[in-house]
Amino acid sequence: MNYPELVSQLTLEEKIRLVTGHGAWHTFPVERLGIPSIMMTDGPIGLRKVEEGEVDSAVSVCFPSGCLTACSFDRGLLKEMGEAIGEECQAYNVGMILGPAINIKRSPLCGRNFEYYSEDPYLTGELAASYIEGVQSRGVGTSLKHYTMNNQEYRRMSYDAQVDERALREIYLPGYETAVKRSQPTTLMCSYNLVNGEHTSESKKLLTDILRDEWGFKGAVISDWGAVHYRDRGIAAGLDLEMPGNNCANRGFITKALADGSLTLEELDTCVDRIITLVKRIKPHDAVFDFKGDHEKATRIAEESIVLLKNDNGILPLSPDKKTAVLGEFAVRPRIQGGGSAFINCYAVDNTLEKMRKLGDVVYAKAFPVDSGEADASDIEAAVALAKETGLAVVMAGLPDSFESEGFDRTHIHLPEAQNELIACLTEKKIPTVVVLQNGAVVDMPWADEVDAIVEAYLGGEGSGEAIANILFGAVNPSGKLAETFPFQLEDNPSFLNFPGDGHKVPYAESIYVGYRYYDKKKMAVRFPFGYGLSYTSFQYSNLRLDRESMTDEDDLTVCVDITNTGSRFGKETVQLYVSDLGDQTGRPARPVRELKEFAKVALEPGETKTLAFTLSKRAFAYFEERVSDWIVPSSDYAVEVGASSADIRLSATVRVTGTKAVPLKIRPDTVFGELLRDPRTQQYTLDNLLSQQSQGILSFPPEAIAALMDHNPVRGLRNFSNRSPEEVESIMYDLKILADDRD
Ligand code: BGC
Repeated sequence: MNYPELVSQLTLEEKIRLVTGHGAWHTFPVERLGIPSIMMTDGPIGLRKVEEGEVDSAVSVCFPSGCLTACSFDRGLLKEMGEAIGEECQAYNVGMILGPAINIKRSPLCGRNFEYYSEDPYLTGELAASYIEGVQSRGVGTSLKHYTMNNQEYRRMSYDAQVDERALREIYLPGYETAVKRSQPTTLMCSYNLVNGEHTSESKKLLTDILRDEWGFKGAVISDWGAVHYRDRGIAAGLDLEMPGNNCANRGFITKALADGSLTLEELDTCVDRIITLVKRIKPHDAVFDFKGDHEKATRIAEESIVLLKNDNGILPLSPDKKTAVLGEFAVRPRIQGGGSAFINCYAVDNTLEKMRKLGDVVYAKAFPVDSGEADASDIEAAVALAKETGLAVVMAGLPDSFESEGFDRTHIHLPEAQNELIACLTEKKIPTVVVLQNGAVVDMPWADEVDAIVEAYLGGEGSGEAIANILFGAVNPSGKLAETFPFQLEDNPSFLNFPGDGHKVPYAESIYVGYRYYDKKKMAVRFPFGYGLSYTSFQYSNLRLDRESMTDEDDLTVCVDITNTGSRFGKETVQLYVSDLGDQTGRPARPVRELKEFAKVALEPGETKTLAFTLSKRAFAYFEERVSDWIVPSSDYAVEVGASSADIRLSATVRVTGTKAVPLKIRPDTVFGELLRDPRTQQYTLDNLLSQQSQGILSFPPEAIAALMDHNPVRGLRNFSNRSPEEVESIMYDLKILADDRD
């Protein structure tokens, strides 16, 4: 305990009040002991300060949403964004911002995908850690949310995510794990849903065993707003603060449990102490920020993140002298953020059309509205006529607010029909067409092959207008890369058959095969792969070198690669490092084809070369082995791949890694010869004593067939297929147990 003195002076009533919110946004103060109240507000893409009892939030700068900032692949940028938001919190007297939100994008349909970063846990964790570092460097707290498996909005408060331990550890937890280990967020927010039959707000396994005991989390756990089921069980599990306060409606659960002994005073005191630690950790200071400066930062962050998906015949950047028809109401009413608790009352929203007018010769037609799927036929006709006149169309497309938000999921991934219709009219008439998308999550693009260029601008915050204009006219060279896969159709997504479940249980049957891990394994073509994005310049990858050819999993591997800007303009490249287990995976848990293990963004002048160095350690090669509940590195050859996307590997080198921790080999009557042959501890014995004997009856088979067949034969088969007596088989089992160190 950090404050045992204070805890000991509190009355039971004060303790109960301290582990319960005070109103919607505050912690409970105990003035007589100098325990202050802190205010927490939503974010995480800006400050959403709502006074108690009010609805509207104070004005603040709206930064880009997680769906876009993740495409920056830039830790420094996320840190900068966190610093700016931290300063705004200080200026508004806010002690803690409720973010970042980092749930994994399991399905494109999840209504909150716009808030989340990626389908990949490594990218997610690294960016979250940087954002947290930024905010907390300003003396303001964060709340890493929603822990965990809140991957859909459908029945979000009551669905039960049925996930296997390996997927939990490899896909759904590492984002939190990295952020906790690297940045120690002041708080973590548990999710609404259940995981494997247990509310996360009552899960000792998640809130204490993994979070604190394994990862070393030092902060407090708070509930999502209304996620508490039984408050006493939450306290025992490690849920420190219930939000919102709700006049302490759950007080009775605590007093009753204390009285009947199912909750101890020590357990309650532990939570109380963590809340005192939390409020004392927050350090108010005079903020240094100005709206205008932050607006400019928000614009730059969007510029560093927007993804160029297609650019045929160098149609982009647009020429300032060529008259261009800008079509679609998004040009004047841009969609810059998503709805729900993340919604920001913006300081100043850019008008994209006006920003484009500053850079080029543009004319505008509404074509279709931003707020419904419907369009007037005459508006479409007028837009096409205008584009015909100019000979070049930029369609400002996207998803209306009503299509995606916190609180509900999408049921399809289509754009409004009117938008697809307009684009089809333009391409049928062979009018060169650029499509700019403002959407929070994956959409399908039936016209992708026909248009000349596609810019994925996602939800870019209040400066997105200027950012888009700068990218289109080439004032900024695009450098974003997709943080999620765009499949050809929703049905290709690995969660398709099990999303959103039957209303109660949601089987995560695809297990670890989420996003590109699935598409790669299935060799399935996708519209745009994970990590993909173009630039107005080109980059060459060369000279990949590893500092060793072989190692154990206790060693570190240094990987260096040279990147050269081979084009004629300044640009930035996101270099991705994937690891791929090349070994025979027979008889051991199968692995994804490749997994992202490192990345870096490098800025290069034309002709310039820079060397990037990465360090890989055990986790880069490991998988989570359920039988030992630990990370295991199978002894194997591993490809270290460096590329421009998950589907564009430019260079690859191999390293031999020897795992120092073996999975225990259990010798049972059903243990098969294959297991014995693949395990170094029993291989020789099996070859010498068992194989030759047992294959006697089938010696006429070709040797490979014998080997294959033997692979599946259990030890007990020696009784049936060789002349061994049951006693002899017992003695063989005994020998094997000694060799495998499997003694009872
Ligand atoms: C959301 C959280 C949010 C909280 C407070 C909940 O409904 O899931 O992300 O921080 O409300 O507004």
